[in-house]
Amino acid sequence: MSDNHLEEAHTGPIKTPKQLVLAVAYSFILPVFIIIGLVYFVVSDNKPQAGSSNSPESVAARIQKVGTIEIKSANAEPRAGEEVYKGQCGGCHTAGTLGSPKFGDSAAWAPRLRKGYEVLLTSALKGKDSMPAQAGGEYSDFEIGRAVAYMANGSGGKFSEPKKPQAK
Ligand code: HEC
Repeated sequence: MSDNHLEEAHTGPIKTPKQLVLAVAYSFILPVFIIIGLVYFVVSDNKPQAGSSNSPESVAARIQKVGTIEIKSANAEPRAGEEVYKGQCGGCHTAGTLGSPKFGDSAAWAPRLRKGYEVLLTSALKGKDSMPAQAGGEYSDFEIGRAVAYMANGSGGKFSEPKKPQAK
C-alpha cells in the first residue's frame, strides 16, 4: 500500500506504456514538423515584404485554400512556337547556355537538323545531355513540337508546322 503510494507520487502525466510511446513519438515528430515549417518559411519567396505585401495578388495568394488545382482545358488554343520558345526555351537557346545550339546559329543547327524533326522533338521532350526534359511542364507536347519547329526553322531548317494531335 505504501509502495503504491510512493510510486504514484513519482509518476507524471504518463501513466501507461502506450502514453509513453505516444509521448516519445510526439517529441520526435513535432520538432521535425517545426523544422520543416521553418525551412519552408526561410526558402519560400512568399514572405511579406515591406511595401509589396498587400497587393491584391499577394493577399489572394496568402488566403487561397490549400490544394488549389489548376484546370488546363484540353481545348485551349495551343500556343505558337514562338511563344513557347520565349516562355521556355529561350532561357538557354538565346545565349547558348550550357552549350545549347543558339537560335539562328545555322552552323550549330545544321548537323542536328539532318537528324530530322522527330529525333529533335524526342530530344526536346525527353531531354538530351545537359538539356532537361521539356515535356510535362507548362506546355503540351504539341506546343513543344511547335517550338522545336520554330527554333529549327529560325536556324536554317525547313520543317513544316507540326500537325495538331487529334482529340481522343
Ligand atoms: C536548361 C537549358 C535548356 C532549355 C530550357 C532548353 N534547351 Fe534545348 N538544348 C539545351 C542543350 C544544352 C542542348 C544540347 C544538347 C546536346 O546535344 O548535347 C539542347 C539541344 C536542343 C535540341 C537539339 C537536340 C538534338 O537532338 O540535337 C533541340 C531540338 C532543343 N534543344 C529544343 C528545345 C526546346 C524546344 C526547348 C523549349 C521547349 C528547349 N530546347 C529548352 C539546353 C536547353
